[in-house]
Amino acid sequence: MYKLISYIITLVSKLERLYFLKNSSNQSNSPLLKNGFVLHYNENINLNKLKIKEEFKLSNYSSKLIIEEESLKAFVKSILKDSQIQNELLGFFNSPFSIDFITYYRTYSLPEKLQNKSFYANHWHTDTLLTENSVKILCLPSSINSAKGPFQALSLKETLCLTSNGFMRGENLPNIQLQENPSLVFDGKESKVLFVRPNLCMHKAGIPNANEHRDQLMIQLNPAKNWSYREDLFNMQYQREPTLAFIKNTLRKKITLT
Ligand SMILES: [Fe+2]
Repeated sequence: MYKLISYIITLVSKLERLYFLKNSSNQSNSPLLKNGFVLHYNENINLNKLKIKEEFKLSNYSSKLIIEEESLKAFVKSILKDSQIQNELLGFFNSPFSIDFITYYRTYSLPEKLQNKSFYANHWHTDTLLTENSVKILCLPSSINSAKGPFQALSLKETLCLTSNGFMRGENLPNIQLQENPSLVFDGKESKVLFVRPNLCMHKAGIPNANEHRDQLMIQLNPAKNWSYREDLFNMQYQREPTLAFIKNTLRKKITLT
């Protein structure tokens, strides 16, 4: 079953490329294309300006910070209009993107005895149900260090090295020589922004130290005809992240940026 789904996702990824890249120029310089992730600093993204409606508890160890509807819309539009973000995505795929999901979440420490169980994607994995062309943008509201359990990712090359040795997901990376381990730790200050291709780069949430927590905002984007976002982004904050987006998103109304 896993092999069948993986085959379908690869096929859809290829169809997406054929459809969206027919007028493409040479994209070989895009770090998203080559490495699978890229870091930027973007002073225009300030999560502290977001108006938070409530903290919606998911479990004893994680919750979502629900952004008020108008505040969310304004934020989404500012992301889609941002020239750095547009340039990075156009450089990667030569196509506009649609914001299909946004979530602002808070992860807490896990008790020692539960740390080998996966509560909030705290095991190494790839997002197998998104396509190879999906991009996630991660942003931080404040400076974080290793005590806060930063997000971690491996490059395309390192992920390929692991998967070709049979590793698909797990708590610890196998004992295989990688260039760096891990190649990316998303810590640092609030204006730092990470673009990552989650279907191709292995990643995981770090676990904060005892009595610590980490806030992080995630935006899921997929190639689209126009710079756009889903009309139901506000309500979708209460839902799980949509996977198999190319099927499930077909009934969701899109709003094109004007
Ligand atoms: Fe993931």
